[in-house]
Order: sequence, then C-alpha cells, then structure tokens
Amino acid sequence: MNIDTLKQIAREAGRIVKEGYASHHKGVSHKGVVDLVTEFDLKTEAFILDQLKKAFPEHTLVGEESHHGIYHYDKAIYIDPIDGTTNFVHGIPHLAISLGVWEQGRPTLAVVYNPILEELFWAVHGEGAYCNGQRLEVSLQSELQNALIATGFPYTKVNAGIEYQWVIKCMTNLLPHIQDIRRLGAAAIDLCYLAQGKVEAFYEIDLKPWDVAAGILIVQEAGGKISNVDNQPFDFDDKSIVASNGKVHQQLIHYLEKI
Ligand code: IPD
Ligand code: CA
Ligand code: CA
Ligand code: CA
Repeated sequence: MNIDTLKQIAREAGRIVKEGYASHHKGVSHKGVVDLVTEFDLKTEAFILDQLKKAFPEHTLVGEESHHGIYHYDKAIYIDPIDGTTNFVHGIPHLAISLGVWEQGRPTLAVVYNPILEELFWAVHGEGAYCNGQRLEVSLQSELQNALIATGFPYTKVNAGIEYQWVIKCMTNLLPHIQDIRRLGAAAIDLCYLAQGKVEAFYEIDLKPWDVAAGILIVQEAGGKISNVDNQPFDFDDKSIVASNGKVHQQLIHYLEKI
C-alpha cells in the first residue's frame, strides 16, 4: 500500500489519455443523451485495473466504466479513468485520472492527475495534500459574498426532473450572495482546486464514488470540510456533496436546497 505506486500508475495511465487527447479518432459513444464515453476511457480504465490488481491485490476495484453494484467495501480503490470526458472530447485540457483508496469507510490515499497540464495532486491520510510537490491549503476567505464556488450539472438534468429543479433553485438562491460560479467540468479537479485555495467551495448532486473518492481526501488534508447538503457526514450513497474551506460551509448550505 504505497502512494508512490499509485502515482506511478496514474502517470503511466496518463500517457494513454494524452495520446487520446491528441487523436482525431476518440471513438465517442453515448451512455445517455449528453453522457459520453470514449475508447480512451475504456482503454485507460482497463490499464489501471490491470496495474492495480497486481499492486493492491486485497482491494476491490471500483471503476466507472466496469463496476456494477454496491459502493461500500472494507478495502476499495475508486477509479475514474477520465474525469471530464466532455472536456476530453472537445479538446479542453481540464480533465484528470482519479484514484482514491478507502479502507474501513475512510480515505487513505489519493491521486488526481491531469496529464495534459502535468498537474499531479495527491494526499496521504495524516500527511497533507500536495500538487507537484507543493503543499496545499484551503483559502482563508470567510465571507460567502467573496467566495468563488465550483459546481457541476448532472447528466440526469436532461429529463428536467428533480435534479434539474435542484440545480436551478440552488443557482437562483446562491448567485446574489457569492462572487461567482464556475462549471469547469471535472469534479475531481474541482475538489483539488478547492484544496489549492482557488475556489472556496464546491457542490453537486448525483456524483459517484469515483468522481470524489480521491478529491475528498485531498480537500480534508488541505484543511477543508466535506458534508452532504444536510450538513451531515458525507456517504457514497448520498445524493449530494458539499465541500468547502470550512469557513463558508454553513453560509453556503443555508442557500442550497435540500434534496
Ligand atoms: C463528470 C464530471 C463532471 C460532473 C459530472 C461527472 P465524467 O464525470 O466530473 O464535472 O459534473 O457529474 O459525471 O463523466 O466526465 O467522468
Ligand atoms: Ca463518465
Ligand atoms: Ca467522473
Ligand atoms: Ca469518467
């Protein structure tokens, strides 16, 4: 169980993602109306699974493109081979490989790697969070009015159902009370940017463990706070996640709709 091995696997997988990013033939297909998957998501995940099986034989491997079933295991690694597939398809260099190791319900190791910008975020429980060797700390901003907030829109929004309503209500409630909103397109990086102090908070609904498993530890190790929209401890089965520098958490939750 070693962070260096995890980083190495992410770096090697990054070569496949980078090759795909440069290619005109990404092999795009649709999982849903706006939910894309490419041949490179599949290829990268297959490579990561193969490597992790050898390096972490005791862990259940939960990858976005291959896992079906429950999310809770004694020892698991949550894998997002490309977080930000829409950006990947459109040639926007904001995407990452996300690997989060959890044991007994707690995150222990995390790597989020953007191979295009060559930014490697990582954390070890109790040892801090880093980006390319630099220690990360959340921002000190305590006024919601000065807070830049990252969010995302779930693929389920297309049916204009409760998820769509929630997204719209939260924006309507929040916008007058914050500095601005960012929808950058990769939840794992949103969490890393929070850890880095670039944004003060992040919230979203309908995310899956592979989107957040690594980012959660990176935020916590940088001094941030994670909960659900009810301000209760976050669980993978929760529909919502709220992450912040801690200082604007309560104020943000005040304006977010319950779900
Ligand atoms: C998506 C991204 C996006 C978020 C979506 C996720 P994917 O992951 O993290 O920012 O808004 O909800 O599903 O599909 O690109 O791995
Ligand atoms: Ca996806
Ligand atoms: Ca994802
Ligand atoms: Ca993905």
